[in-house]
Formats: sequence, C-alpha cells, structure tokens
Amino acid sequence: MEIVRTVEALQEAKQRQQGSIGFVPTMGALHAGHLSLIRRARAENDVVIVSIFVNPTQFLEGEDLDAYPRREAADTEICERAGVDLLFMPTISQMYESDELSIGAPAKRGYILEGAKRPGHFDGMLQIVMKLLNLTGATRAYFGKKDAQQLVLIQQMVRTYFIPVEIVPCEIVRDSDGLALSSRNAYLSEEERSRALALSRALRKTTERITAGERDVEVLQRVMIDAMEGVDAIEYAVIVDRVFRPVETLKPGNAILLVAARVGRTRLIDNLWI
Ligand code: PAF
Repeated sequence: MEIVRTVEALQEAKQRQQGSIGFVPTMGALHAGHLSLIRRARAENDVVIVSIFVNPTQFLEGEDLDAYPRREAADTEICERAGVDLLFMPTISQMYESDELSIGAPAKRGYILEGAKRPGHFDGMLQIVMKLLNLTGATRAYFGKKDAQQLVLIQQMVRTYFIPVEIVPCEIVRDSDGLALSSRNAYLSEEERSRALALSRALRKTTERITAGERDVEVLQRVMIDAMEGVDAIEYAVIVDRVFRPVETLKPGNAILLVAARVGRTRLIDNLWI
C-alpha cells in the first residue's frame, strides 16, 4: 500500500495503477462499517483508494472538529490488511485555498433534518466529496446508508454536475446489540452506550408495526418517538421517501425511517430503508 499526502503524489501514484478505481472517502477512526465499504471496493475494482481527511468545512462552529477521533496508525494498518492500494491522507492546505469557491447543498433537501440541525454541514461535505471524486477519478465510490441524507445529496450532486462516477450505497453495519457503528460511538460512556440503543430499538419497533400492516406515517412516527425513551433529547424521528420528500402514507420500497438524538454530549443518527 502506498501512502500519499499531497495532491501531486496522488496523481503520480495513480499513474502507476491501471483499471477501474474503487474509492472509499472517510474521516478516519475506521471501524467495521468502513471496512465493509473497503472490502466491497476491493471486490469490485482493480484499484482501491481510501482517503482519510477530517474535513473542517463540514463541521459547524462549536462542533467536535478538534475532538473528532484521529487514529492514523491503526487506520493505516486496517487499510493495509484490507488490501488498499493507495491511502490518501492530505493536510488541510492541500485541499483548500484561502478564498474558496464553494458549492451549496440544494435549498430544500439540503436544509431539512440533518441540514436544519447542522446548517452548512452539507455544503462543506459536498465540497470535499466533489474535490475527492475529481482527484481520485473514481469509477465507483462507496458510501454507507447510515448517512442517508448525505448519500442522497451526493447522488444528486453527481447527477447535477455530470460527474462520471457510480455511487454505490452500502448497508449499515451494526454491533450485535443493534447499535449502528459510528466513529462518534467512541464518545459514549458505557451507560450512554446502553441508552443509545434506543435509536435502533425505535427503528425495530416501528418495523414491527409496518409488518403488522400499519401505513399511517403519523402513527408510525409516534411509535418511533415513544420507543426512543432513554435518550437525552430527540432531534427528529421521521419517515420520508427515498429522495427525502415527506410522506403521509408509507409505501414499502420507497421509504426511509430516520432518527436523530442526543445521548449525553453525543449526537447520534440511525435509519432504516424500508
Ligand atoms: O461520511 C463521512 O465520513 C464524510 O462526510 C465524508 C463523506 C468522508 C466527507 O468528508
């Protein structure tokens, strides 16, 4: 595996590789969820590139940019073992200039739910993903469904700007007790971690009601909220269609159940595609 830290070194390293490129963008602190993306990229492409970059423009003032876990040595070993060809770990100055041109998330879909709670987050996220897709020249790029709104916005950006890449959505990876894997789970104390199970429990209970025939979204959203007992604050518990439009009646095959909550000082999200 080759480790590259500059844009120039990445371009040079890419010239030594041939064939389809599978790309997995990450912010590091790699866990089994990331590993499943890397493994899929490895299985489906000739060359695998992983990036690790804690992107400052997608963090709001007062968020956890400084505290975000950074584990370069462990991450490097995980990538090496998973058969990654190029590990791109740029500095901020490699990725940004001082008076940057920016791109904006769409006015509606980009500013509801996560976008409403974290205004500006998706602008910064799309900006870095656009840069990384262009730099890597990826044939396929792999994103987890855990960040469902992020995934849908990236798909839209790729359509809007005619970026020649296939976006591959990948399933959420969970611990055996149901907690969706996230680098931010590292912030949870043992007691908080057990309360955080409320998110996946809410999704499970709501699915049971759907299986039993319930389709009224208002009723189902109430089930989600009631099942989230134990968290410190519910941020949202909603059902949308697969392009993030609100729905009144659930249609299996075109719905996402989404929850976001705070447990202690940690903000957690989870979802289920129905
Ligand atoms: O999902 C993430 O880890 C980040 O938002 C991404 C896609 C790597 C962009 O910084």
